Amino acid sequence: MPASPVRILAPIAVLLLSACSGGADQPKEIVVGEYGSLTGAQATFGLSTKNGIELATDALNAKGGIGGVKVRIVVEDDQGKPEEAATAVGKIISQDRPVAVLGEVASTNSLAAAPMLQTNGIPMISPSSTNPKVTEQGDFIFRVCFIDPFQGTAVAKFAYNSKQLKNVGILKDVKSDYSTGLAQYFTETFTKMGGAIADEEAYSQGDVDFKAQLTAMIAKNPDAIFIPGYYTDVGLIARQARDLGFKGPFLGGDGWDSAELTKIGGDAIAGGFFTNHYAVDDPNPVVQDFITKYNAKYHEKPDGLAALGYDSAQVLYAAMAEVAKDPKMAAELADRSSVPATEGDRKAARAALRDVLAHTVSYPGVTGNITIDDHRNAQKPAVVVQVTADGNKFVESIAP
Ligand code: PHE
Repeated sequence: MPASPVRILAPIAVLLLSACSGGADQPKEIVVGEYGSLTGAQATFGLSTKNGIELATDALNAKGGIGGVKVRIVVEDDQGKPEEAATAVGKIISQDRPVAVLGEVASTNSLAAAPMLQTNGIPMISPSSTNPKVTEQGDFIFRVCFIDPFQGTAVAKFAYNSKQLKNVGILKDVKSDYSTGLAQYFTETFTKMGGAIADEEAYSQGDVDFKAQLTAMIAKNPDAIFIPGYYTDVGLIARQARDLGFKGPFLGGDGWDSAELTKIGGDAIAGGFFTNHYAVDDPNPVVQDFITKYNAKYHEKPDGLAALGYDSAQVLYAAMAEVAKDPKMAAELADRSSVPATEGDRKAARAALRDVLAHTVSYPGVTGNITIDDHRNAQKPAVVVQVTADGNKFVESIAP
């Protein structure tokens, strides 16, 4: 791998780009980065998030942007892989010099890129990464969703109290911080309540044959199987478990949220329950108004990722509008001419943005009211939904 020519060329590329992007006659714009899985095994995560962000951004720009300056989103595909997430964010930072970055969905990918944004003093908002470690990467790292100690507790309470399940098997993805964390938090609450873990088995994201683990698990006779993974793997696991004769219910977390789940899992996954951030059949007017607008633009019903992507952008734009009340800060938000990018005047604007984000209180999001707490997380209720052939149906809401 010829590392040195790349290292020599990179700063030159940055200088060339900055020389032609910051001229006085250039229209001013505010650049926001976005990284996500636009392709790969979790492609619907990135694509739905992108749609949600775009819907919020188009609406903002139609109303004149931030103080008359339009926001432009620069999106990089990371294929759902942590190494690519780090590369994508490195590229956005050096080439596009964003004032903030939105992403990722999968916690492991957010964890791969967050330290770089923290070091450069660029606020990052993850719409949907729920592992606690994500925002622990530093004071520039935020999220607008709940975290997994709560989500794991919500699944456990639903299983034990609402479904009377007392003996549950767990099949977790060891390549995913989200999956291993959620398995742990579920176990803690479920066993404290009096439930038992019949068996815990593991796989690695992208595996296609789960029969050995499932055979071992089914032999222990669990009432239900908890699969804290992502939809592609979950669909295959459900099919193979049914093929092996398992008749009980499947339980999961937000990682199930994709229209692809029932395409992959078919009848096997129908009837399963998972915790999520929002339910399409929630009558709340904020939710229904969002669904109408989203459907008009994309001709499909938004999933939770789309709703969270939308909310993350909305929270960011509300904070930008606040920062831009100071004319000097407003100018810095839009100014991309400083070289090098990470040392320019805009550092002050990004720090101001960080401070305003940290004080977000009761923002009325589609996924619930968003208040950013001292750990830069949002405390919100979860919903339990049931997978059916024609979409996910609301079952119950669980308060934080
Ligand atoms: N919470 C998951 C994670 O942290 C990502 C996710 C969120 C997936 C919402 C689907 C819906 O990895």
